[in-house]
Amino acid sequence: MQDKKKEPWDQYGAYLHLDKILDAQRPWSNEAGKPAHDEMLFIIFHQVYELWFKQILFELDDVCARMSGKTLDDRDLLPVLKHLDRIVSIMRILVKQLDVLETMTNQDFTDFREYLKTASGFQSGQFRLIETRLGLRREDRLRVFHGQFDDNLCPASRKTIKETEQTPSLFDLVDRWLSRTPFIEKSGYKFWESYREAVYKILDERKKAANDNLDPEALKAELEAIDKNRKKFDGIFDPEEHKKGHWRMSWRALQAGLFITVYRNEPALQIPFRLLSLIMDIDELFALWRYRHALMTQRMVGFSMGTGGSAGYGYLMQTLEKHRIFTDLFGLSTYLIPQRALPPLPDEISGEMGYSYAKQR
Ligand code: HEM
Repeated sequence: MQDKKKEPWDQYGAYLHLDKILDAQRPWSNEAGKPAHDEMLFIIFHQVYELWFKQILFELDDVCARMSGKTLDDRDLLPVLKHLDRIVSIMRILVKQLDVLETMTNQDFTDFREYLKTASGFQSGQFRLIETRLGLRREDRLRVFHGQFDDNLCPASRKTIKETEQTPSLFDLVDRWLSRTPFIEKSGYKFWESYREAVYKILDERKKAANDNLDPEALKAELEAIDKNRKKFDGIFDPEEHKKGHWRMSWRALQAGLFITVYRNEPALQIPFRLLSLIMDIDELFALWRYRHALMTQRMVGFSMGTGGSAGYGYLMQTLEKHRIFTDLFGLSTYLIPQRALPPLPDEISGEMGYSYAKQR
């Protein structure tokens, strides 16, 4: 709200609370009487990150709220895309801006590292909340020496994370939304059956072409490759295999994810496809950030332990793989077949997925 008592030239500072923000950089090396020039950059850097984390959470909360209903209203799709897109743009900046911190040399960092005591990004409640909101589950996290990942967070952050764990994450909400995709089984059409037929048809054709054209040695290798491929597809088409838990995505969401991916040009699937792509962008950018942060850590402190008490570089590199959330969406690409082999959609289904004015033509 505008502060009427202030002079016009004070409004900018009042609106942004610059008195607080610009007074919040207090290098501990200064307080120890041994000022280290680069600590200012280090502090501002983390503060900027925390502000962006706040914005990411703000966008995520909105996306999750819009997706939490029994159905996702069509009119909510564009805001959902917009906010996910914004998260992607912020994430790109978060990765890129590490360039600035790397203008600090390892010796510069060493000059004030001891004054950080046990302070570490490890204790960033907002970072942990983003991970949880996106869908990183407690049981999937790497175990570190001090037990649970949130043991070293402040009580308020711990409480928020516990509460967030009780609500559906973005992963859960996307899964539910995908599971509701109406077109994969409709009016006698069953996407899964038609896709399975197309897959085995193309494998049979490949086998025939190999038998007709290859010499015995090449034929043996090709038949083995085809057999391997067939087994891979047998796995995805078998509901019993799915129950074994290789996928985090539900059985129906997995089918819908593939359906949207292969028929993405259908008008009704263009926005869903975009949504899935943005989620993959977020997952990929998170992994990129983790990788760059790990490399930067190694550059600054080699193989020393972190100030937060983890193994440092080794721990961070492990999170790169272990803390991915939407890997199943990437895994779907294992099961794509060439466009020419895709079964055309029945007219009725395809007609329903067009824009209505196109149908009237
Ligand atoms: C010289 C620069 C930096 C170094 C050497 C460094 C080092 C480390 C280390 C060793 C860890 C592992 C935990 C520990 O034992 O302390 C860690 C975790 C973390 N750091 Fe940094 N860091 C740096 C800059 C940053 C910046 C700018 C941010 C931005 C907020 C950040 C955010 C984090 C986060 C969120 C974690 C937790 C990662 C996880 O557990 O998955 N760090 N850092």
